[in-house]
Amino acid sequence: MATVFDLTAWNAAQLVRVEQALNQWVTADAPVGVDHGAPAALVEAMRYAVLDGGKRLRPLLVMAAWEAVCGDAPLASHDAESAMRAACAVELIHAYSLVHDDMPCMDNDVLRRGKPTVHVKFGEASALLAGDALQALAFELLTPESATMAGERQALLCRLLARAAGSGGMAGGQAIDLASVGVNLTENQLREMHRLKTGALLEASVMMGAACGQASPKTLSALQSYGAAMGLAFQVVDDILDVTADSATLGKTAGKDAEQDKPTYVSLMGLERSAAFAQELLTQARLALAESGLSNTDALQGLADMVVNRAS
Ligand code: IPE
Ligand code: IPE
Ligand code: MG
Ligand code: MG
Ligand code: MG
Repeated sequence: MATVFDLTAWNAAQLVRVEQALNQWVTADAPVGVDHGAPAALVEAMRYAVLDGGKRLRPLLVMAAWEAVCGDAPLASHDAESAMRAACAVELIHAYSLVHDDMPCMDNDVLRRGKPTVHVKFGEASALLAGDALQALAFELLTPESATMAGERQALLCRLLARAAGSGGMAGGQAIDLASVGVNLTENQLREMHRLKTGALLEASVMMGAACGQASPKTLSALQSYGAAMGLAFQVVDDILDVTADSATLGKTAGKDAEQDKPTYVSLMGLERSAAFAQELLTQARLALAESGLSNTDALQGLADMVVNRAS
């Protein structure tokens, strides 16, 4: 009899490993364990931004995509280290994006992951620098000095992450977001903004996980479609939760989008149609997985469900 996949248990096991790795890598020591003289106060702000909080969805996606492309093959130890480095690198970029997103020059938020935001706790200059340093650390993680990751794979992972984080990805989307305050975007414009500011990094998480194993072009293309649909769904749901959930549940200030006159799916099409759109995207993500030719997609499937049906 086929065993039923237990997403909660799978998540819990992955999260323990991800937390351990982040705790080990975001320190005053370089990832290779050499003290490189980082100022303790800056490292404290970085650790505050990254540790103890967050759903860790991006690392989970990396690990799920990696496991999916590994199929029934044994999870080789070197590939496992690559996947964990990729998982943590994406989370570092995400954490940096949150630190900067919350700053007074952007969304001016005081609450994040249930705690005062980094600039509230450490000051604006430290928040800026902590974000910068987290971004750099992400790429350091992807380029280990030891021979645990082939040079070609290091380059591919760096390229995927850099593209998703840069002007054609998260940073570009954030620029559009800030330029769109009080503007009525068309549906296409809004979709593009969301695809860049949030979707790109989620899609990259999937592709980076796949890059740590072996996948055919057909599988990669299906995984990319999955990542794109799920990435957009993620931000649609973020827009919905900003209206429907409370700050305690979210761990960040609810109602900010309307307060700051940001164009969102809810402002464009209302709550009901936004929720229906998120479900439609979930269906698209599931279809893409079905077309991937992969047999081991339970975790990817479960994470897509979680993204769309989450409460926080
Ligand atoms: C929030 O992301 C910011 C967006 C991209 C919408 P998450 O909802 O994944 O935040 P954490 O990591 O769980 O705190
Ligand atoms: C932020 O989008 C996306 C990022 C790149 C950080 P939001 O501004 O909607 O994220 P929250 O709602 O503050 O988490
Ligand atoms: Mg924002
Ligand atoms: Mg924000
Ligand atoms: Mg939001």
